[in-house]
Amino acid sequence: MVGQRFIQLLENHPQFEITAVAASDRSQGKTYSDACTWRLAGEMPHAVRSLPVQPPTPPLDCDLVFSSLPGDIARETEGSFATAGYPVISNSSAFRMDDDVPLLIPEVNHQHLDLLARQRQRYTSGGFIVTNPNCSTIMLALALAPLHARFGVSATVATTLQALSGAGYPGVSSLDILDNVLPHIGGEEEKIESETTKILGRFVSDHIELAPMAVSAQCHRVNVVDGHMAAVRVNFTRKPELEELREVLSSFRSLPQELGLYSAPANPIVVRDEVDRPQPKLDRDAGNGMTITVGRLSEDTVLDYRFVVLSHNTIRGAAGAAILNAELLIALGHLASV
Ligand SMILES: NC(=O)c1ccc[n+]([C@@H]2O[C@H](COP(=O)([O-])OP(=O)(O)OC[C@H]3O[C@@H](n4cnc5c(N)ncnc54)[C@H](OP(=O)(O)O)[C@@H]3O)[C@@H](O)[C@H]2O)c1
Repeated sequence: MVGQRFIQLLENHPQFEITAVAASDRSQGKTYSDACTWRLAGEMPHAVRSLPVQPPTPPLDCDLVFSSLPGDIARETEGSFATAGYPVISNSSAFRMDDDVPLLIPEVNHQHLDLLARQRQRYTSGGFIVTNPNCSTIMLALALAPLHARFGVSATVATTLQALSGAGYPGVSSLDILDNVLPHIGGEEEKIESETTKILGRFVSDHIELAPMAVSAQCHRVNVVDGHMAAVRVNFTRKPELEELREVLSSFRSLPQELGLYSAPANPIVVRDEVDRPQPKLDRDAGNGMTITVGRLSEDTVLDYRFVVLSHNTIRGAAGAAILNAELLIALGHLASV
């Protein structure tokens, strides 16, 4: 699912051209068009159809690697590319919590790229690994970032409703999800709880100081194709007025917008006031899938405030996030060879 989004989003990209594709031994040796069951709206881009699917081992004919491998095999594979000198822009969980690996959302923590200096000790060939967060973490952390910077988030509770495409292809069996909600997504709650404090943490000297906040997550798979949603409650160190909260969220802009990065949305966060928004079907494509939508912003009866946040899980939550990371790396001079 994420690989296809990469192919779709990289078609006609002004800075990248797909020169090689790699997947499992189920696909190796076939052309991409024979190996791939195309599941996205529109045609499979012509430029990739005849590319041979190769094993994911270096050398590959490319300047950088976008990876969306299952977490359990990503560690060895991505590590081997970084060891061989390739920049690896990863969407997998394998390296996200490593001390010397940036867990990057360009609008939130571009300062964490200073960790790359430490990776030069691990990968002396010049390769490195930059990761993007889990698909639900990313919308939570992006929504919390301007609030934390301004008012200090001391605790947050998130209850997610996650789309089917988040489980990959073929993913969840139709008999399990039709007429149903599944209250367990393996490893997801732990990822949200740990990744959020790293992303919102501060780069100090040569490491990330985790953000001092309590994060609690409960995750559910729902019968929606694309678009993850979360009901979020937040406590602040200094409780703001509701209107301040709204203003800080809707006026949020950051480095990708200043630099005019190709995939950066004009507004990273849109706040909607209708009582029945956001909805996956109506709001997941905001900002070409790179804008998150916040709604139902109100005071809470237990914590300070609550809201609902929604984002496109395979774009802002996966392939689009990784491509924006690569665009930032180019803009800041970390991908000199590209
Ligand atoms: N889907 C989302 O919304 C989302 C969001 C954020 C992060 N992620 C993460 O992104 C990664 C991919 O997710 P996905 O949804 O795209 O899964 P997917 O649809 O199951 O695709 C997995 C890909 O990895 C390849 N692969 C599997 N085993 C392999 C092996 N042993 N060697 C080489 N390649 C192998 C598969 O190759 P074949 O095509 O040959 O089977 C396929 O191309 C996961 O780590 C996931 O947690 C997903």
